[in-house]
Amino acid sequence: KAGLQYFGAATDTPGQRERAPFPASYPKYDAILKDPKEFGQTTPTNGMKFMFTEPEPGVFNYTEGEYVEGLAEDTGKILRCHALVWHNQLSPWFEKETWTPETMRVAITRHITNVAGHWKGRCAHWDVVNEALEEDGTYRQSIFYKVLGEEYLKLAFQVAAAVDPGAKLYYNDYGIERPASVKTAGAVKLVKMLKDAGIKIDGVGMQAHLHADNHPTTQDHIDTMKLYTALGVSEVAFTELDVRIKMPVDAEKLAMQADSYKAVATACVKVKECVGITLWDFYDPFSWVPDTFPGQGASLLWFDDFTKHPAYDVLIETF
Ligand code: XIL
Repeated sequence: KAGLQYFGAATDTPGQRERAPFPASYPKYDAILKDPKEFGQTTPTNGMKFMFTEPEPGVFNYTEGEYVEGLAEDTGKILRCHALVWHNQLSPWFEKETWTPETMRVAITRHITNVAGHWKGRCAHWDVVNEALEEDGTYRQSIFYKVLGEEYLKLAFQVAAAVDPGAKLYYNDYGIERPASVKTAGAVKLVKMLKDAGIKIDGVGMQAHLHADNHPTTQDHIDTMKLYTALGVSEVAFTELDVRIKMPVDAEKLAMQADSYKAVATACVKVKECVGITLWDFYDPFSWVPDTFPGQGASLLWFDDFTKHPAYDVLIETF
């Protein structure tokens, strides 16, 4: 409906999956993951990140990312690639280096040239820069920003555009799903800065790591997407959707979670530039949530025993 091109789920390389509980569940997991009726798109949750792709300076390794890329190809899924420039999960060598603006320009250029070059033509989207903003909407004081200021954003998008002209290039962040938030305003400013400089940016990715208790409404999502599309980006997407619950789970919390998923889906089908929705994995035991937000969990659509959350049926009705 509207501009919706896909509903997908991110996945990890088997060896990297979070809190892998019982390996016997892998066949069931893989059957759902591969089923084209469930998911038409995927993203590697980890494998294309800096620490995997450039473990040593100028030494590239694509094994982890290729697992997910191969899975996408074998099962006819759209591949979203994630992420070229991010302050987290950087290689240790990158953190230790004493940078000058010039050496960092060279390093960023080399990384993007190699990684985006390796997957050229195969990534429908690239998250070129991830999480460049602080919670108050100012630029995050990352290693990139400290050395290059906002120039690193321009450089990253310019290099990505030159290396893989067919990929849609995204700015991706969390906490940018509400129209009145200062971080959303920061994202608007960031995208506008790139647009005003004549740099190619095609999309804004709203990660959408949401909480069932306090989630954006359908109207919040619509209004937020319009702020981005008004800047001239041709698309927006929900790139890492999950809706966490304060444990333990009960029927009421699951109903709120279903509302939250429904708000995202309803908004996305109503906004023509909203091209798709990606869950950040689909099976609760493989979610990043319990490790990152202690006491919270059950954020995806399949419980540990492979029964489905109520949100699953609500989503099916919405599409
Ligand atoms: C998470 C992965 O899911 C975890 O496995 C990993 O340990 C940390 O990163 N925002 C992002 C994603 O852009 O890359 C993060 O993924 C979750 C938050």
